[in-house]
Amino acid sequence: MKFFVDTADLGDIRSLVSSGLLDGVTTNPSLVAKSGKDFKEVIKDICAVVPGPVSAEVAGTEYDQIMAEANVLRKIADNVCIKVPLTPDGLRACRHLREDGTMVNVTLCFSPAQALLAAKSKASFVSPFVGRVDDIGWEGMGLIADIVQIYDNYDFETEILVASVRSPMHVVEAAKLGAHVATLPPAVLRSLFNHPLTEKGLATFLADWAKTGQTIV
Ligand code: E4P
Repeated sequence: MKFFVDTADLGDIRSLVSSGLLDGVTTNPSLVAKSGKDFKEVIKDICAVVPGPVSAEVAGTEYDQIMAEANVLRKIADNVCIKVPLTPDGLRACRHLREDGTMVNVTLCFSPAQALLAAKSKASFVSPFVGRVDDIGWEGMGLIADIVQIYDNYDFETEILVASVRSPMHVVEAAKLGAHVATLPPAVLRSLFNHPLTEKGLATFLADWAKTGQTIV
């Protein structure tokens, strides 16, 4: 499973790149607003430090506007992945951008039927939002299971990018289902390390090691 980080915070991204765990980045207009930075500048800076795909979301909703914005964004760097909404105009733009060899992430996917449309539009990634589905009392992971089954049935090449991830269990459940990618808030990615028995065991080993009076180097 690939790990993307869901943030426009360059400090967080830099520290996660150095962990060697990061395969890409997703941003959205809310995350860019939170960063307080110029959108194109921040995408350029992120692309320079991240080796994998960096999703940059268009603000336009009509085909011509989406294509005009995508043309600006995809010139920023080779690893820019244009993020378009799951709408008729977004999917039309997706198909045309893919024909030109541009990576496309189709965002705001909330149903298996929508995911089927994204795959038929040759999206590089589809982003089902599990947390937001859970928030309305439905089952986010059920959505992932349905999409995995549908994509497997037809060998679609679109990668399932599990988004709106809120907890380590979302990541584990998505991995068990075979989702290709999870995009995680930095805090969730870091929390994957945590286990009380790891902390307790390490403290015991360090205390016992100190008793030996030895050093390794
Ligand atoms: C995906 O690409 C989105 O940026 C993101 O995962 C949305 O998550 P949220 O529901 O926590 O805002």
